[in-house]
Amino acid sequence: MRVAGIMSGTSIDGIDVAVVDIRGKTGGVRIRPIAFHSVPYPKAVREAILAVSNAMTHTATISRLNFLLGELYAGAVLETCRVRNIPLNSISLLGMHGQTIFHEGAPVEYLGHRVASTLQIGEAAVVAERTGLWTISNFRERDMAAGGKGAPLVPYVDYLLFRNRRCGRVALNIGGIANITVIPAAAQPHDLIAFDTGPGNMVIDALVAHMTRGRQRFDRNGRIARKGKVHTRLLDSMLRDPYFAFDPPKTAGREQFGREFSNGLIATGLPIEDLIATASELTARSIAQALLATVEKEDCIREVIASGGGVHNLQVMRRLRELLPDLSVKTSEEYGIHPDAKEAIAFAVLAYEFIQGHPGDLPSATGARHPVLLGKSSPVC
Ligand SMILES: Nc1ncnc2c1ncn2[C@@H]1O[C@H](COP(=O)(O)OP(=O)(O)O)[C@@H](O)[C@H]1O
Ligand SMILES: [Mg+2]
Repeated sequence: MRVAGIMSGTSIDGIDVAVVDIRGKTGGVRIRPIAFHSVPYPKAVREAILAVSNAMTHTATISRLNFLLGELYAGAVLETCRVRNIPLNSISLLGMHGQTIFHEGAPVEYLGHRVASTLQIGEAAVVAERTGLWTISNFRERDMAAGGKGAPLVPYVDYLLFRNRRCGRVALNIGGIANITVIPAAAQPHDLIAFDTGPGNMVIDALVAHMTRGRQRFDRNGRIARKGKVHTRLLDSMLRDPYFAFDPPKTAGREQFGREFSNGLIATGLPIEDLIATASELTARSIAQALLATVEKEDCIREVIASGGGVHNLQVMRRLRELLPDLSVKTSEEYGIHPDAKEAIAFAVLAYEFIQGHPGDLPSATGARHPVLLGKSSPVC
């Protein structure tokens, strides 16, 4: 079955669309990537999403943006088919993550109740209507209803893509936030350990946007970080952030490493190139520390398979290789998966699992009380 997946992550950089062919039954599915295409968010849309992420806002804005993003997602799928020469009618199913504008995985006291919640926008009904494709969306809610943190959801797909009988592997994704999935040799799904390690590109991006007054959104190839000086005292104090000491399962987002965090760095008054170097080092160090602490408990972990836009930051990748000298750190490209496409592929696979009636989440990763069927269906007739 040909399935498309749409991902738009916490970096709010754009809409990633992957098309894959999936065969086989649950647990043993074969995934063959067919195409990948990415459509950047228009600047005004990006700013509107940022303005409603963790912010006081008007419900009208959220409602309008929900429908507008549905249009943009549908447009991105149609554009992918056009530029990659894929007939739309060869696709049978669509999985879309949506755009997270709020995520609180652990319950908080609210109006006399304990409430955990999450909100991804991008109206699936609009996507189904415009593309004519059966669309599965809203993957996180059911896991949270079952007591999970609603994240991470990609580990199950990491397992399908990268498991190996003899060699233990770690799938690392460096998006706005970084996360790892530890896949021991000959693992079963319940053997996986997966969690967000902390910031990926989010803090670096915010500092670069500040430095260039919005003209640049990220540190292309890590060039600025390379020139800046790491401020050791600031780095050490950031590494003392309680998030890094929490035991998994744990998830992070703009709530922890968003505007407030980067504004705190800017307020130190240190030269901005040095702050970018220090934030890049924070990304590499927090990933390496979390990875080493987890891998220590597992035998035979030898390979790290990196994906996400952060693999293009050569400074972060260089430091990761230096900090993990006993592991082979490669990008997912070398395993046949375009690094920018992995998460979009994951939501195509999770949509496939949904229609097979198979739970796509791993309670060991999310903390859910039991495995649940992830997604809500917008069929076409
Ligand atoms: N050439 C590059 N050099 C450095 N960083 C890059 C490059 N290309 C992309 N990135 C980083 O990757 C991010 C997007 O990664 P992505 O995997 O899409 O994250 P998310 O899932 O959070 O949207 C950008 O915001 C940027 O920080
Ligand atoms: Mg992205």
